[in-house]
Amino acid sequence: MQPIDLPGPKAKKYLERDGKFISPSYPRVYPFVMSHGKGTQVWDVDGNRFLDFAAGLAVTGTGHAHPKVVKAIQEQAEKFIHISSDFYHPAWIELSARLNDIAPFSEDALTFLSNSGSESVEAAIKLARHHTGRSQFIGFLGGFHGRTLGSLAFTASKSVYRNRFFPTMGSVVHAPYPDSYRPLLQTRAGEDYGETVVRYIEEQILTRLLPPDNVAAVLVEPIQGEGGYVIPPPGFFPALRALCDKHGILLIADEVQSGMGRTGKWWAIEHFGVEPDIVCSAKGIASGVPLGATIARKSIMTWPKGAHGNTYGGNPLACAAALATIELMEEEYIQNAVEVGQYAIDALDEIKVRHSHIGDVRGLGLMIGVDFVTDQQTRQPHKALRDRIEQLSFKHGLITLGCGQSTIRFAPTLSISKEEIDEGLQIFEHAITLAERG
Ligand SMILES: Cc1ncc(COP(=O)(O)O)c(C=O)c1O
Repeated sequence: MQPIDLPGPKAKKYLERDGKFISPSYPRVYPFVMSHGKGTQVWDVDGNRFLDFAAGLAVTGTGHAHPKVVKAIQEQAEKFIHISSDFYHPAWIELSARLNDIAPFSEDALTFLSNSGSESVEAAIKLARHHTGRSQFIGFLGGFHGRTLGSLAFTASKSVYRNRFFPTMGSVVHAPYPDSYRPLLQTRAGEDYGETVVRYIEEQILTRLLPPDNVAAVLVEPIQGEGGYVIPPPGFFPALRALCDKHGILLIADEVQSGMGRTGKWWAIEHFGVEPDIVCSAKGIASGVPLGATIARKSIMTWPKGAHGNTYGGNPLACAAALATIELMEEEYIQNAVEVGQYAIDALDEIKVRHSHIGDVRGLGLMIGVDFVTDQQTRQPHKALRDRIEQLSFKHGLITLGCGQSTIRFAPTLSISKEEIDEGLQIFEHAITLAERG
């Protein structure tokens, strides 16, 4: 398997211009300069083909430029592109009705639309304060919820995101995320690690730091994304739901990365048998057209006219793209995420047997993490190796992205085929072999 000479000549020219005009704050890790994409394949400006196992950071669930999504956007654009959320239009109403159908609540839902994951989190924070009349929150170490000052108060995956931005919103106390591969707390007999974390919240945070009747909500990713594709043990969410119910605290599920079919269900929290009170969605919801949604139980979205709003909420192009996306997910791609996701996890488990630096393979549907360690016993994260594998995969035609300290995430299009998984994993294993050689 021969590496591609990257970046190519055209890409180099674009990179030079990019450096002159674009904020240096974006965390780019390698120089992929896109020309176009189709399904799971993408091409750079020099004509090199890649398999995209990152889907624009878990966004293009229906694949790049799905014809049905493109057609829906085109048809809407020909009618009108914008009218503002001060008015009404059919696609916005229809999309909110569809989100009500798929929301993970037994009661009806109401939806607030915005333009990004961070905004969907901001709306959830404000709604929780407004509805409860309480001000405080609980978040989780390793969590990622965005970079605006409210969402940043919860983001705790890397300190660089916070460096020189204090004070953030404040009012957030972080608990350890229930990561049973690298636990921070000691488990008691008869408890799973998820229950341990909830006991810590109750016995430490709610006893020593935050009076429970001051706490508006717990904000949590059902599967931690940026933090390393960490899946909580089964006891976590039932215990957390019970704790929230006991104290009248709202449970907000940040499904920006894990939702919209990625894990083989509409919402990752559905794997854990509990209902949240508010769901934050974005990324995969509109196949790449910017859209955020804060979906809440009807009994909770009680704020009055003027309490929250925006110019672009219910953007017609985004609504049209989201309606087409939901249809495709329902018809085909959620089921594909279940089948092809399991196929990929099984294949990665086989690869793990051949490589002693793979400490853990974990995933649900097509949200899969491969964690690299210096030693399988100590589970010490091997960040340098992970970074080399990410670079080498790119040089051989596979787009992946790291997350957590030492994890490579697979968040491909949900339309991906088993053949594409085979092709991508062949490159991935080759990259591991090269990286392990040093
Ligand atoms: C779980 C989660 N919440 C919120 C966000 C923020 O979304 P955005 O970058 O669209 O503002 C992200 C982005 O990666 C995310 O993964």
